[in-house]
Amino acid sequence: MIILGIETSCDETAAALVRDDRAILADVVLSQLDEHRPYGGVVPEIAARAHLDHIDRLVAEAFRRAGLSLAAVDAVAATCGPGLIGGVIVGAMTGKAIAAVTGKPFIAVNHLEGHALTARLTHGLAFPYLLLLVSGGHCQLLEVRGVGDYARLGSTIDDAAGEAFDKVAKMLGLGYPGGPAVQKASERGDAARFALPRPLKGRPGCDFSFSGLKNAVRLLIQDLGTPGEQDRCDVAAAFQLAVADSIAGRSAKALRAFAARHAGPRALVVAGGVAANSLLRQRLGELAAQEGFTLVAPPLALCTDNAAMIAWAGLERFRLGHSDGLDFAPRPRWPLDPAAPRLPGAGVKA
Ligand code: KG4
Ligand code: ZN
Repeated sequence: MIILGIETSCDETAAALVRDDRAILADVVLSQLDEHRPYGGVVPEIAARAHLDHIDRLVAEAFRRAGLSLAAVDAVAATCGPGLIGGVIVGAMTGKAIAAVTGKPFIAVNHLEGHALTARLTHGLAFPYLLLLVSGGHCQLLEVRGVGDYARLGSTIDDAAGEAFDKVAKMLGLGYPGGPAVQKASERGDAARFALPRPLKGRPGCDFSFSGLKNAVRLLIQDLGTPGEQDRCDVAAAFQLAVADSIAGRSAKALRAFAARHAGPRALVVAGGVAANSLLRQRLGELAAQEGFTLVAPPLALCTDNAAMIAWAGLERFRLGHSDGLDFAPRPRWPLDPAAPRLPGAGVKA
């Protein structure tokens, strides 16, 4: 079984072909970083237009790289949400058009389900497992129990983790995207010079918060007046440490709640662009080892937005007999667990 996947929900335009033996036959990703850099963040209208300019060529390129024709695919999967709606519409319409002309089934994929199931593509991981998704748009802990069966243990009550990295980088004049820039500056910084808050520390649940920390950084920079090179590296290091501490601290509760419900072997999967952060990875590795979990981190190219994860999520759904009508409406918001009961150990916010 071969599935074509299409991803256009944020600032990556991507197409991929994936087979049911977990082989990635083609995985083409075009990042729009250069288009958005002058604005210091993703501009939805620019993103949608860029997706439209490139998606046809990228789909053709995926088939060329795999040495396949349209006739070889069993179904077409496209991200239909959540995300920036202009971009989501471009990918969904492209997928539907290909499905319509070829007569192949169409599968509407939830972008978050793509991230959630990636570890099954890369590592063949069995259900259930715990997923920490930390990206520019999301910060959540999910119990992944099966295809379409997710329970959220916690999520951010304000900013996503990557968003906080990007905003702090902007305040420090470190450029866009912020995460890698903050990490680089941190290498030359002294994290112990400034004491920053650990949001929600000691509070029940597994939710995250970053806006208070971001504001603390803003005030710190104001106090410094005109921060010099070393000041900026020290602030970056203190911020990065606070984020890593906070994410690890909140995740620890989710690991314990998961362990109380499921016998081993237990796995913690990390996904999303922020999972590239080496300090965070180190902290999560220590935490996992301490709690008797294996830390599973898909290769970075499959942690950040890509279409192989969309093809794979589509494939998992399709082989269970699911497909969607061509009237499936793209969704800007689409939680993975809309009706799920809150689990013990879950956060304060629904
Ligand atoms: O998953 P992703 O590529 O895109 C989506 O948000 O969907 O994640 C991008 C985010 C950006 O906010 C970026 O600043 C952050 O991931 N990021 C990092 C690092 N590399 C990327 N954050 C911290 N440390 C990094 N090394
Ligand atoms: Zn994503």
